[in-house]
Amino acid sequence: MSKRAAAALVAGAMVAVLTACGSGGGGGSADKGAGHKLVVGFSQVGAESGWRTANTKSIQESAKKAGIELKFSDAQQKQENQIKAIRSFIQQKVDVIAFSPVVESGWDTVLKEAKDAHIPVILTDRAVDSKDESLYVSFLGSDFVEEGKKAGDWLVKEYASAGGDVNIVQLEGTTGSAPANDRKSGFADAIKGEPKFKVVASQTGDFTRAKGKEVMQAFLKSQPKIDVLYAHNDDMALGAIQAIEEAGKKPGTDIKIVSVDGVKDALSAMSQGKINYDVECNPLLGDQLMDLVKKVKAGESVPRRIKTEEGTFTPEQATAALPNRQY
Ligand code: AHR
Repeated sequence: MSKRAAAALVAGAMVAVLTACGSGGGGGSADKGAGHKLVVGFSQVGAESGWRTANTKSIQESAKKAGIELKFSDAQQKQENQIKAIRSFIQQKVDVIAFSPVVESGWDTVLKEAKDAHIPVILTDRAVDSKDESLYVSFLGSDFVEEGKKAGDWLVKEYASAGGDVNIVQLEGTTGSAPANDRKSGFADAIKGEPKFKVVASQTGDFTRAKGKEVMQAFLKSQPKIDVLYAHNDDMALGAIQAIEEAGKKPGTDIKIVSVDGVKDALSAMSQGKINYDVECNPLLGDQLMDLVKKVKAGESVPRRIKTEEGTFTPEQATAALPNRQY
């Protein structure tokens, strides 16, 4: 190689190194300059329910309000899509990655990749079951065990004076997801002291209206006596209501229904007597998430766990809340 060619090669290599440094390797915004707009990569579960639609809207609107650029990706309820999205956010060197994990397990490898790239991760709505807590900085969302417990506690009170068996069918959320696991265990815990409560059938309806209807149709065919339906979310309960009505029964009367979320459609069904009790799960996480993003990037310490405040609805409370319900 001639001396001139060798010198050109060295100069070229130096330019490449300088360019890499200037583009803010590691995703930090500090090295991107003071006027840099924060960029958040957000991987959403999908659009499976009314709750999810409200959650997406809240995150998109809050990002806009906070002047944060949001790279939004819809995983269509598939973990592999979320892993791909997170890898693409890492490649794009976003400032913060936030995501709502479709299932609890299987995240360690990709979260380690984000950590190695020095990109902080915030979990929103759902948790991961990773033992390594250094893989994310904070988890913002509901206490799903508590939600299941509230549903079970209501049942215990409602049937306090009932003598015979109370047959329950359960519509579970997405298999392996935190809300399905936790709402099931919280509910089971609340009713376990009373042997009259029998969960006679339990199956996933994947948090969707269509699946909720389909599985309820199967329950109605296979179970001779159903007293109660416990649905892990409102969309499945609303689908099940259609199945119950098509089977010639009265939802809320022939079969009591307890559900989770508190979306407008469910509150409306409650005011018509079709759902008996609803445990609230708050989807409006956008403002809190954007606040966290800013704090994390400013190097401030943030709580590892932020629980959302939520209540419960009787039919009377649902009717009163309906006119002002945002979602
Ligand atoms: O993770 C929250 C749950 O996911 C909501 O209860 C449900 O409606 C959604 O799909």
